[in-house]
Amino acid sequence: MPRGSILVVDDETEIREGLEALLRSEDFDVALAETGDAGLQKLEERPYDLMLLDVSLPDRNGLDMLREIRRRDPNLSIILITAFGSIDMARAAFKGGAQDYITKPWSNDELVAQISLAIEGRRLREENVHLKRALKQRYNFPNIVGKSEKMLSVFDLVTQVAPSRSTVLIYGESGTGKELIAKAVHAASPRADKPFIPVNTGSIPADLLESQLFGHVKGAFTSAIASKKGLFEVADQGTIFFDEISTVSPETQAKLLRVIQEREFMRLGGTDTIKVDVRILAASNEDLRKLVREGRFREDLYHRLNVIAIHLPPLRDRKQDIPALVDRFLEQFCRENGKPPRGFTQGAMKLLMDYDWPGNVRELENAVERAVVLSTHESMDADLLPEGVRTREVVKGVRLQLSEFLPPLPGEAGARTTAPAPSLFEILEDVERRIIMDMLERTNWNQTEAAERFQIPLSTLNQKIKRLGIETRRRPSATRGPGVGYGEDSAEFSAGTNC
Ligand SMILES: Nc1ncnc2c1ncn2[C@@H]1O[C@H](COP(=O)(O)OP(=O)(O)OP(=O)(O)O)[C@@H](O)[C@H]1O
Ligand SMILES: [Mg+2]
Repeated sequence: MPRGSILVVDDETEIREGLEALLRSEDFDVALAETGDAGLQKLEERPYDLMLLDVSLPDRNGLDMLREIRRRDPNLSIILITAFGSIDMARAAFKGGAQDYITKPWSNDELVAQISLAIEGRRLREENVHLKRALKQRYNFPNIVGKSEKMLSVFDLVTQVAPSRSTVLIYGESGTGKELIAKAVHAASPRADKPFIPVNTGSIPADLLESQLFGHVKGAFTSAIASKKGLFEVADQGTIFFDEISTVSPETQAKLLRVIQEREFMRLGGTDTIKVDVRILAASNEDLRKLVREGRFREDLYHRLNVIAIHLPPLRDRKQDIPALVDRFLEQFCRENGKPPRGFTQGAMKLLMDYDWPGNVRELENAVERAVVLSTHESMDADLLPEGVRTREVVKGVRLQLSEFLPPLPGEAGARTTAPAPSLFEILEDVERRIIMDMLERTNWNQTEAAERFQIPLSTLNQKIKRLGIETRRRPSATRGPGVGYGEDSAEFSAGTNC
């Protein structure tokens, strides 16, 4: 690992190349630029830890350049290279945001020390900011696990929007924690000690939803034997959270718009307007803008709801959160199931990290609960994980647990003591054989169909079958369905003896 990345901007070839050789020999990652513009261009391409900047560049004045860099990356450490030292220069450099300056000719040891100090200082500053955020987060949202940058930004946003009355739209795939975030917004708001009412709009028929939301007066419909308060009245002074807002019918959308705009409504069948002070939060796992374009969601309601949008990233985009989430769920489910604390083996943990979690945190939560319930020992291995987590879909429909193909290490269960371990080539052949056999089983032993699904010519599949020693034998006719004919390529296969 390099000790840091440095961009050298100097018009003198000798200086650039000398610095490059020196810094590389000190384990720094170095990039060079000959002009100010080229340096700015390089900054656009990737981030650097530090810039060594010549103050007298042909195309730009050094101090102007400093300002321009600060505008683009306020955190970059900068050391200025000057031809002569002067108090004025130093003063101007520090004012412009440089960490330090060096005067030509310099001592290499001193320069490396200056650079190391500046880079280390920057790391400490960044770590400090991160730790402060993480601490604040833990303090503010004890129920929500999240250490990744992406979740820390979500927490920042929640902290910022909570005190206001603004409507918030929470986007995220199913199981990413939208309801949890809605509760956090409410809990961090001045309404925290008033009701938080979640409404699962997707599961309620339209007319029933309206009566639930707005209430009804006696006799409004056949079964309305008494007047009833709606959820908007129950949530007065508090927060109402619409889960899956995209599923609300157009008529109910119009009524919701009115409540948001006028903050008043009428009970079903009633004539009196009821005023409420309710904060509205909504969640969706569909892109509402797209639904607006398709005419399936009211544009005016969309704009009213979308005052602030919080995007919850899918778990596969913030895998750093997985270990902490696993710990949280292990602790919870061991406690709930009256089992002593247990943990996953390294192998199981690796599978949990590798898997993409299409059902997000909810799927992970369920996988941990299942493992805890089924476990008999403190150490929980991969066999307690759901099949989808243990195996990979290598070809559509064909799943493999790749670890099955790896030879056990000496001392591990099943390790062979005398025979030599298989080579990588033999392991890959094994994998290929299994994939082909699985596909042939799925296609009911039809080679033409299997070749099509693999998107390879039939002749190639035939060659592979021969090379891999997959034995083919015709299936007995009793096992075939009526009307299924035998083609050249309908046969039963089994692995040859050499696997
Ligand atoms: N960051 C997190 N920390 C701890 N638990 C979490 C986190 N995110 C989600 N969960 C848990 O995962 C489950 C799903 O969360 P939630 O119901 O909030 O998701 P959702 O996005 O509303 O899902 P859906 O779209 O299916 O309604 C809940 O049990 C919740 O407690
Ligand atoms: Mg939800």
